Amino acid sequence: MELRGRTALVTGASKGLGAAIAVLLGRAGCRVGVNYAGDTAGAARTVAAVEAAGGEALALQADIADEGAVQGMVQTLQARFGTVDLLVNNARIDPYKRPADMSDLGWWNQTLAVNLTGAYICAMAVWDGMVAQRWGRIVNVSSVWAYWGASFKMLPYAVAKSGMHALTRGLATEGAPFGVTANTVAPGLIITEAIGTRLTEEQIEDAKHGVPLQRGATPEEIAEAVIFTLGSGFTTGAVLEINGGVHLGA
Ligand SMILES: NC(=O)c1ccc[n+]([C@@H]2O[C@H](COP(=O)([O-])OP(=O)(O)OC[C@H]3O[C@@H](n4cnc5c(N)ncnc54)[C@H](OP(=O)(O)O)[C@@H]3O)[C@@H](O)[C@H]2O)c1
Repeated sequence: MELRGRTALVTGASKGLGAAIAVLLGRAGCRVGVNYAGDTAGAARTVAAVEAAGGEALALQADIADEGAVQGMVQTLQARFGTVDLLVNNARIDPYKRPADMSDLGWWNQTLAVNLTGAYICAMAVWDGMVAQRWGRIVNVSSVWAYWGASFKMLPYAVAKSGMHALTRGLATEGAPFGVTANTVAPGLIITEAIGTRLTEEQIEDAKHGVPLQRGATPEEIAEAVIFTLGSGFTTGAVLEINGGVHLGA
């Protein structure tokens, strides 16, 4: 009930987990800013799904690594729906989608810029509004990769996700006196509709076998954890791990 009537910004909500989070926020009676980078059709589908679920929604194209674009996006959202009460930093560059001609440093910089700095930029863009009204909820979507020893291939992604945990703790510390909470949700394997664009069937089966519960999560299962965290006013600086038990060992 605490979320009803609130204004939310979900980054990377054109597909996958972000779209599922946006829809559940709509079901909870929120007004949702549906951020995306380039998938206009996907964002439009999410807006329609949020509205069908009973919420209001606005598609907002912005590269979250671009501070000016993010500030413009937040202004547009606030002009339509009022102060942003809830921020879900969900957008990411997919670690499996490195362009073949990109240098190691170029990929490192791009991954960190979107997957970590982008979350910081978005938090700063909504911060003053949350502090002024002495109420705000921020959830950063991390990954089990924040904990794992990464191959070079996954290293920029893992570092960005690990950094998100420190970002959460800092935001939680700064926000606590003002009623602003910040938490991390760290999922494991999620079976989104796009998973087939980066993993083969065989790789997906292998990944499932590495999960003690022997499956990946649905986007809705992780979205429910995000909604729970957004609604839990006494939880801050915490990490909600939802991964089918991958840290249990063999
Ligand atoms: N999938 C998994 O198995 C898994 C596991 C653990 C954690 N996670 C985490 O869960 C979250 C969602 O994952 P997912 O699989 O649903 O992601 P996804 O399918 O790769 O979708 C990524 C989203 O981020 C957006 N995006 C990319 N770059 C952006 C930028 N510069 N500015 C704004 N938006 C940008 C994309 O927009 P466009 O579509 O417009 O490009 C898209 O909406 C991520 O934080 C991810 O790290 C996922």
